[in-house]
Amino acid sequence: EKGPYQHYMLKEIFEQPESIKRAMQGRIDEEYATAHLGGLNMTSRELLEVEQVVIIGAGTSYYAGMLGAYVIEQLARIPAVAELSSEIRYRNPVVRKNTLYFAVSQSGETADTLYALRELKRKGARVLGICNVVGSSIPRESDGGVYIHSGPEIAVASTKAFTSQVTAFYLFALLMARMRHLSYEEGLLFIRALREVPERLREVLEKAPEIKALARKYAWVKNFLFLGRGLNYPVALEGALKLKEVSYIHAEGYSAAEIKHGPIALINPETPSVFLVPHDELREKVLSNMKEVKSRGGKVVALCTEGDPDVREIADDVIEIPAVYRYMYPYLMVVPLQLFAYYMALELGRDVDQPRNLAKSVTVE
Ligand code: F6R
Repeated sequence: EKGPYQHYMLKEIFEQPESIKRAMQGRIDEEYATAHLGGLNMTSRELLEVEQVVIIGAGTSYYAGMLGAYVIEQLARIPAVAELSSEIRYRNPVVRKNTLYFAVSQSGETADTLYALRELKRKGARVLGICNVVGSSIPRESDGGVYIHSGPEIAVASTKAFTSQVTAFYLFALLMARMRHLSYEEGLLFIRALREVPERLREVLEKAPEIKALARKYAWVKNFLFLGRGLNYPVALEGALKLKEVSYIHAEGYSAAEIKHGPIALINPETPSVFLVPHDELREKVLSNMKEVKSRGGKVVALCTEGDPDVREIADDVIEIPAVYRYMYPYLMVVPLQLFAYYMALELGRDVDQPRNLAKSVTVE
C-alpha cells in the first residue's frame, strides 16, 4: 500500500499534513484557546502543581522530546528537559514530587525507554506516554498519556511520528501555558499558527524535486554538518540522524553556536554544512555562524524563509520555506531534511525502508 510512492519512507513523509492534523483532532478548544488531552488522567489541580517536566526517549523520539522541552519551557514557563532513556535509568535519578515525566516512543516497545519508565515508576514518579502504537507496553504501563494517531509507520526511519510527537507536546505546552500566564489572545495566536502547519507543509513538500536535485549535487560528500539553534537545534540533530540512518553518510548535528568551540576544525571544501535559518530572534546569530563557515572554505546549504537576501548572499544553495509563527519552524525545517536524507539514500542506491543493522523496534537494551 505504498500507492504512488516508491518507498514507505517517502509515503510517510508526504502523509505529514494529514498525520499532524490527526494528532490535533478533537484536542483544540478555540473557545477557551486551550487544548484538551483527556488521556493525561490528571485533574487541573494536579496539572497546576507540576513544577518541572522531564522527557525521556531514544533516537528520533528523544529529539522530539528535546523540542518538546524547549516549547514547554518557553510557552508554559515550566522548567523542562529531555534525557536519553538509556542514560537516566542507570543514573539512579532523583525523582521529585512535582516533576512530571513523559516517555516518548513511536513503537511503545523500546527497551531503553520501557525500563527507564519502570525505574521511574518504582520511585513513585508519574510517567505519561507519548506513543503511536495503541496498546503497546509503554502506554500500558504509564499513568496516562497522549496517543499521536500517526497510523502505522512502516519505514524504519521515523518521520511522521516525529512531527506528531512534537504536536502532542505543543498541545500540552499550550494547555499548561493557558493555566498559567498565557492570555486568551496569545493562546489563540498559537492555535491558529498550529492549525496552519499542515497547509504550509504542503507548500514545503512541493519542493521535493528541488531537494532531490540538491541530493544529486551533494551525493559525493562523505561528511555533513547540520546546524541550528533554539527550537531548531533538535531539528538539526534529527536531520543528521536521518541522513546517517538511511544514506550511511556521516553527519553531525550541532548548535550553530557550538561549532566555534571545536567542530569548526572539520570545515573544508569537502564538508558542507546545512544551516537552519528561520526568521526568528536567533536569525542574526545564525547568519554570523554561517559567515564563519563560509570564510573557512566550507560549502553552505541553507534552509531559510522565502526571499531572505542575506542568506542568499552567503549560502551556496538555498531551500526556501514559508515564513510562519516562530514556534512552527521546526515542522517546516524537519521535512526538507527528511526528504534530503531520503533522496541521498536513493541516489546512493541504499535500502531506504530497511537500512542495514537497524530494526523498527529495539527491544534490547
Ligand atoms: C530514528 C529511529 C530510531 C528510533 C528509536 C526510538 O529514525 O528509527 O532512532 O526513533 O529507536 O524508537 P521508538 O520511538 O519506537 O521508541
